[in-house]
Amino acid sequence: MLHLQKHLLLLSLPPRATASTLFSLTRFAATTTAVAAKSAASFAVEDYLVATCHLTRDQATKASKSISHLKSPSRPDAVVAFLAGLGLSAADIAAVVVYDPRLLCAEVDRTLAPRLAELADHGLSPSQIARLVLVDPARFRRPTVISKLQYYIPLFGSFETLLQALKNNSYLLSSDLEKVVKPNVALLRECGLGACDIAKLCVPLRRLLTTNPERVRDMVAQAENVGVRRGSKMFRHAIQAVAYISEEKIAAKMQCLMKTFKWSHAEVRIAVSKLPAVLRNSEDRLHRVSEFLISEVGLEPAHIAYRPALLTYSLERRLIPRHCVVKYLKENGLLETDKSYYSAVQMTEEVFVEKYISPYEDTAPHLAEDYAAVSSGKIPARFRLKGPKTGHSSAQTA
Ligand SMILES: *[C@@H]1O[C@H](CO)[C@@H](O)[C@H](O)[C@H]1NC(C)=O
Repeated sequence: MLHLQKHLLLLSLPPRATASTLFSLTRFAATTTAVAAKSAASFAVEDYLVATCHLTRDQATKASKSISHLKSPSRPDAVVAFLAGLGLSAADIAAVVVYDPRLLCAEVDRTLAPRLAELADHGLSPSQIARLVLVDPARFRRPTVISKLQYYIPLFGSFETLLQALKNNSYLLSSDLEKVVKPNVALLRECGLGACDIAKLCVPLRRLLTTNPERVRDMVAQAENVGVRRGSKMFRHAIQAVAYISEEKIAAKMQCLMKTFKWSHAEVRIAVSKLPAVLRNSEDRLHRVSEFLISEVGLEPAHIAYRPALLTYSLERRLIPRHCVVKYLKENGLLETDKSYYSAVQMTEEVFVEKYISPYEDTAPHLAEDYAAVSSGKIPARFRLKGPKTGHSSAQTA
């Protein structure tokens, strides 16, 4: 009943007033329960966790280990009241207690209420504070949380994005800001990345900012090694491509690209600097694609090095079908022979059909049907390809 009243009261108050109001209310709750507790002979932590915090018996057994020193329900009662006052549901409170049972031993008057007041002073609404508590019950009450929020919110662009980032990387609030996070951010900024680029990079590389700065420095060195300049637009993608891969593996991948595409040292660096993600292709895929582009389509290695996007398309669903259409049209004198395969590969499906299929309804009435067949892995007789390796069989092994 007390919780409900307090909750309603909280909702009706302007945000600034909540922290101090809550503070006095929880003090009241703490006093009343402390009196009640004195009469209890012994305090069974596990039972308390089940009855009051709604943990399962197994969760309670596990959680009770770290708080077995609790002798009365007075502190936990006050904490539970505090959390309910923040707007956390019974299920939320159970989740928070499972994550960090020691929270139940926190002092509401000396730790939680002042922290809440500070967070509110920094402009966080009660709902934002509640969500912060849910994301990291162990860290929100530390004194360092304020300086971390002050640093992270502008970096990630908003509190909401930061909350997402905290869900993706639980170390953000526990890592050392000065020794780990700030040096990493400074280094990335030196490479020309802005806050927005850094936040974007943290989506695929969730732990980037909390990674040992020495390792991040290695990533930067590797990105430069493979041919991407600091300050270039591709640098972020280069970091993403080389992150958490050993120097040896990256060197081996560069060698593999050179051998497979018959590229010179300079050419492989051109390809990688234009599209660092080519480093993430498997050796098997690189072999199949190079075999097709060089032997079947007849492209020059250098031509491919300057157009590494060719390596990103599906062999079976894009590269082979479009080659078949372009080749057929050229061989039958329906398309100028200098028309580029690359531009035919790049366009959307809709545009390709509009430019390469539809205009030939009269001169090549079977073209749409043949294109559909080859796109689904069956190469029709009219589309015979040269090499045995890039013919029918490879089209079916996706
Ligand atoms: C968190 O991860 C999800 C799922 O991978 C992603 O969609 C989201 O953009 C990430 N958010 C941030 C801020 O890193």
